[in-house]
Amino acid sequence: MTDILLFRDIDEPGLATIDVYERRGGYQALRTALKTDPAELIETLKGSGLRGRGGAGFPMGLKASFIPQGDMQKYVVVNADESEPGTFKDRELMQKNPHQLIEGVIIAAYAVGATKSFIYIRGEYEEQADILDAAVQEAYAKGYLGENVAGSGVELSLHVQRGAGAYICGEETGLLDSLEGRRGNPRLKPPFPANAGLFQGPTLINNVETLSALPHIVELGAETYSAIGVANSSGTKLISISGNVQRPGNYEIELGMSSRDIIYGLAGGPPEGREVKFWFPGGSSSPVLTADDLDVGYDFDSIAKAGSMLGSGAIIVVDDSQSVVDVCLKLAHFYAHESCGKCTPCREGTNWTEKMLGRVKDGTATPMDLDIMASVQQRIIGNCLCVLGDAMAMPVSSMIAKFRGEFEAHIEAARAAADRAAVGVAG
Ligand SMILES: Cc1cc2nc3c(=O)[nH]c(=O)nc-3n(C[C@H](O)[C@H](O)[C@H](O)COP(=O)(O)O)c2cc1C
Ligand code: SF4
Repeated sequence: MTDILLFRDIDEPGLATIDVYERRGGYQALRTALKTDPAELIETLKGSGLRGRGGAGFPMGLKASFIPQGDMQKYVVVNADESEPGTFKDRELMQKNPHQLIEGVIIAAYAVGATKSFIYIRGEYEEQADILDAAVQEAYAKGYLGENVAGSGVELSLHVQRGAGAYICGEETGLLDSLEGRRGNPRLKPPFPANAGLFQGPTLINNVETLSALPHIVELGAETYSAIGVANSSGTKLISISGNVQRPGNYEIELGMSSRDIIYGLAGGPPEGREVKFWFPGGSSSPVLTADDLDVGYDFDSIAKAGSMLGSGAIIVVDDSQSVVDVCLKLAHFYAHESCGKCTPCREGTNWTEKMLGRVKDGTATPMDLDIMASVQQRIIGNCLCVLGDAMAMPVSSMIAKFRGEFEAHIEAARAAADRAAVGVAG
């Protein structure tokens, strides 16, 4: 059951143009939605069970229901920052089917009563931003955007804004600050964006994939959509799979599919002669799982039960030719570099962890340093303003806990090599 909803027709030539999109049934769901009472539409979204696809998995319809009623200026913002390492599904959605997203935005805006909307797209996605810009112009020209959306009397503007080039601009409140023209720093929550978001107005902010699912939910109805997948994880999910696999790429799966079938079946598993050593199930911020977890169902609850998180749906596979120390160091470097520096546990903790892992790498750390590093991660988790600090601490903790022996052996071997080098012994 692959490529059934969001990736349906994805490789159809010209799908990014409004003519082909409409020929494939595009914008019909919007017409249906516009004939529905907004409150009823929100009930449909709730009933679908759709959970956010950007990382946190918050129920989409429930979030929409938090937007207050009334005549104040409301906004819909699309999170198209896509900076989580390993995640590249939104890029393909925007590049190949921009109108599916635009249709989803219009449906969401109608449901919550927003008249202004924005797509905040990762700065490096130049090609996708140009494609979106062209698609937005087409949607205006055809009357799906503007002062009278599809003849309904409803108004909606949509603007594509290029991002500012930082991972933290994908955190929803950092994104809102950046969209307002400021440095992208996370805000204290509450208030949440639903009450005080963009320019302090009520704002519905959702991931590209989340909003791209809306036309399908309207088309199928809540009941049919929620029957896809498993309990508490309805619908399909786009998986970006990368690392040591033979067929990396984006795949659409029904939630609940076995992780083994994704990694070995769809992606072909590691290269010949290699085994899965560990894998990140939900992007680089998720605690790693091992080969023992391959039969876990790929859905929110099963991955959580296995000790990790589904996150953005990005599976990164690491095979037995790789060093866990190298992976851990690279990961800590990324988060230390991307920390915005606003709060101490993250600013200091990510940089300190990177430094300590550098010592592990060159053999100047001791096994006791591994204990200290593990305990520092526990002090970061839950103590930061946003979850970027946790996003480093959780996978680092899991790697130290699950591969402690390899960390210790690496320290030993690196120290012995350094000692030999110091006395001029070769080998
Ligand atoms: C550091 C950080 C980076 C994030 N980056 C992204 C991102 O690139 N794209 C995204 O959709 N959500 C990202 N998120 C999650 C957003 O804060 C937010 O939960 C999401 O946009 C909500 O949309 P959803 O409910 O549709 O998933 C990030 C969160 C954090 C803490
Ligand atoms: S957790 Fe890190 S990225 Fe988030 S606000 Fe604090 S310093 Fe900034």
